[in-house]
Amino acid sequence: MAKEIRTIGVMTSGGDAPGMNAAIRAVARACAYYNVKCIGFYRGYQGMIEGDYCTMTARSVRNIISKGGTILKSARSADFRTVEGRKKAAANLKEAGVDAMVLIGGDGTFRGGKVFSDEFDIPVIGVPGTIDNDISGTNFTIGYDTALNTVVDAIDKIRDTASSHNRLFFIEVMGRDAGFIALNSGVGAGAEEILIPEEDLGLDRLLESLKRSKRSGKSSSIVVVSEGDKIGKNVYELADYVTENLPDYDVRVTVLGHMQRGGTPSCFDRTLASRLCVKAVELLLDGEKNVMVGIVNNRITFTSFDKDFKEAHEINKELLRISDILST
Ligand code: F6P
Repeated sequence: MAKEIRTIGVMTSGGDAPGMNAAIRAVARACAYYNVKCIGFYRGYQGMIEGDYCTMTARSVRNIISKGGTILKSARSADFRTVEGRKKAAANLKEAGVDAMVLIGGDGTFRGGKVFSDEFDIPVIGVPGTIDNDISGTNFTIGYDTALNTVVDAIDKIRDTASSHNRLFFIEVMGRDAGFIALNSGVGAGAEEILIPEEDLGLDRLLESLKRSKRSGKSSSIVVVSEGDKIGKNVYELADYVTENLPDYDVRVTVLGHMQRGGTPSCFDRTLASRLCVKAVELLLDGEKNVMVGIVNNRITFTSFDKDFKEAHEINKELLRISDILST
């Protein structure tokens, strides 16, 4: 029989994402609702290893739903990859009376969680939080929607100056191994071309498309490039290549960088975080463990930690075709 859960721990790990505070709030409030103690660990696995934690009550998470970042801070812990590190974490959890954990993060967080749970028999539930949206088992990760809106807003602003000067802008967006942000923001902002790691469109095609744009009388052009693009050149090299081959273009580069990870979470991300985290607490109380809660077709789903979360979360390549048509 599963052991009784009296205290649940929560942490945020990996790259921060808008909506993580809404997620922490939902864990703390659901614990309060079910009369379970809640403990928050700082800096993800590192705080578990160092015994850096605080008690969280329904009131201690007041007014954080609208805040970006994570009040529990986040980190990528190298120490947790060692068995010594994980032993320390397990000992600290025991001392704090923590019976189970909610882990908010990406696939690396879940991989660590599975090893830890198997080694020390501590039930864990994963909640997907990353702006990259690159986790299978869920249509959306917490932070992705906000990041998309941030990117579209930034591209709209760049478009203003691009069109005032008749310029071509290469705009690099985040997404280490995945083009979700690039593809969706590119369509949303009306980019002329979108370069993503999932599809190598080639340099010739890019030049052809830019020549076509020029001929059609466009006053500005935007090319959105995912940081993980596989075309073989980084965004600056791409800009140089186009300048050499199409000297009529006045080219500029903007790397949006970490501003994509900050800011007020959208309503969608707050609601997603709230739904997933209430379910995470309820699953632990029902004796479940080692699954990630996700959302597929607007229904909550569970995916075993045995799954490779990086595997085939398919990007909607139809959007490339749509973008092609609309950039005529
Ligand atoms: O995982 C989210 C992400 O923002 C990626 O898109 C990006 O490559 C990476 O984190 C950057 O991480 P950091 O600067 O925190 O090491």
